[in-house]
Amino acid sequence: MTPQEFEFISGLIKDRSGLVLTQDKGYLLESRLMPVARKRGMKGLDELVATVRSRKDEALLVEITEAMTTNESFFFRDVKPFDMFRDHVLPHLLEKRATKKSFRIWCAAASSGQEPYSLSMIMKEAGSKLAGWKTEVIGTDISTEILEKAKKGVYSQFEVQRGLPIQLLLKYFKKVDDQWEINADIRSMVTYKAFNLLASLKPLGQFDVVFCRNVLIYFDKETKGKVLGEISDLMPADGLLFLGGAETVLGITDKFKPVPGQRGVYCKAESDFTIAKS
Ligand SMILES: C[S@@+](CC[C@H](N)C(=O)[O-])C[C@H]1O[C@@H](n2cnc3c(N)ncnc32)[C@H](O)[C@@H]1O
Repeated sequence: MTPQEFEFISGLIKDRSGLVLTQDKGYLLESRLMPVARKRGMKGLDELVATVRSRKDEALLVEITEAMTTNESFFFRDVKPFDMFRDHVLPHLLEKRATKKSFRIWCAAASSGQEPYSLSMIMKEAGSKLAGWKTEVIGTDISTEILEKAKKGVYSQFEVQRGLPIQLLLKYFKKVDDQWEINADIRSMVTYKAFNLLASLKPLGQFDVVFCRNVLIYFDKETKGKVLGEISDLMPADGLLFLGGAETVLGITDKFKPVPGQRGVYCKAESDFTIAKS
């Protein structure tokens, strides 16, 4: 791929998804886009680029963008955020939303579903504490292909061995041939929807908790700031934001601040949310 072709395709991908591809990612672009070209009977990437340049083929543009997303995810990823959710955030919501008995959680880059299902299992484990409550877990992602997998809730042995405690595997999954299928109860707790984080977030409504983990890392500073600013607008004063281990709000937005002692967890700048020392 020539530098001009790289610039053209990486510009297109950034405009459509926010994903930034630096020149040193040429190999990634080629390895991810070759299958797209081949699937359409094209000889190589130069033909793919020429096709994109010559006509507006929305299906092809979607395929190219989706091919460049990294969908890596696993259950209870990094453990601590999920401990924090179970031990502090859920009790906080149970106390502060006791009158209206409802709250909403958004997994903004849900990928293949492990993150929203991990949260749903924690909520299920809370048992009678949530009886009579209306809770929503919304999982969105730009990739419709990965959301199809999330909706099915079927995982390989390798996938369930990454982070999922054995007792939760046995309790909430059923073995089907050599795969594990999450049970209907947990699956029905999550609503999936295709959604691009570059779009206005307003139509999604308010969220008490937002997991936006391991996606901002692919965006430039301006896009990160814009998305974080809009997330803050969707939250009540005591809303909480979870980012990935390599992500931060520091130096990007002043709408959030870190929750002391909790890596990757942020509250709104004006919030006085703290964790009681045990
Ligand atoms: C590495 S996965 C993170 C999955 C999960 N949050 C976790 O931490 O395990 C990143 C996801 O972000 C999605 N993504 C990338 N750009 C996006 C965008 N502009 N809007 C919504 N989702 C996007 C990708 O499709 C991918 O599934």
